[in-house]
Amino acid sequence: MALRPEKDTPGSDATEILATRAGYDRWAAIYDGEDNPLVALEEPQMAAALGSVAGLTVADIGCGTGRHALHLAAAGARVTALDFSEEMLRKARAKPGAAAVTFVVHDLAEPLPLAAATFDRVVCGLVVEHIRDLRGLFGEMRRICRPEGLIVVSAMHPAMMLRGITARFTDPQTGRDTRPQSHPHQIADFIMAGLAVGLRLDQVSEHAVDEALAGRMERARRYVGWPMLLMLRWRP
Ligand SMILES: C[S@@+](CC[C@H](N)C(=O)[O-])C[C@H]1O[C@@H](n2cnc3c(N)ncnc32)[C@H](O)[C@@H]1O
Repeated sequence: MALRPEKDTPGSDATEILATRAGYDRWAAIYDGEDNPLVALEEPQMAAALGSVAGLTVADIGCGTGRHALHLAAAGARVTALDFSEEMLRKARAKPGAAAVTFVVHDLAEPLPLAAATFDRVVCGLVVEHIRDLRGLFGEMRRICRPEGLIVVSAMHPAMMLRGITARFTDPQTGRDTRPQSHPHQIADFIMAGLAVGLRLDQVSEHAVDEALAGRMERARRYVGWPMLLMLRWRP
């Protein structure tokens, strides 16, 4: 059963949907400067799911402006980070510490240009909602992960789509609600895709904005109590 985002979301008439890569190329200019409640919610969950990464090899799949990649490299990991948005990668490469990360331009719809069984941790943060073929990507993440490694995936919770929300920003050039193309997967789609490629589900959790986050970030207030983040941790 496919989710169908509401059509009567306020402002949806003015929404501009872009191809995913073009959307992120445009978003890159302001991506890091936004107060993003999903990012705020995800960061501590990702850190907890990954554990200590000092001395480990890590692949950051869909690294964007390097939020996880740079943090993980600073924590002592050897990081390879992939994304298809040249503009997001340009921002990542310009940041302090970026020289320690190997950045690769790559479309995740294609097989990953990485050797089998080479990574202790495979991180995929807030990307899978943009991936049509989940089995293809999950299968590739399993292939590159060491047998004793972990694959940690975060996603915008599918319940957000029931409120008409997908990844989006207000384009300062046009003033319009602008969205890189998303694919409305359900939790079952994520889990069945992982199981279908032989992954073992190790942890699954769902997270909502609480009053503390809403207090720090006004933009989060309208989502208090609503599931916003899905975390999945797999073993190959
Ligand atoms: C919401 S951002 C998250 C970036 C980063 N992982 C983070 O958590 O800050 C989603 C990223 O996924 C990338 N992405 C989406 N679809 C992709 C694809 N098919 N191939 C490569 N990158 C993709 C986008 O370019 C964007 O940088």
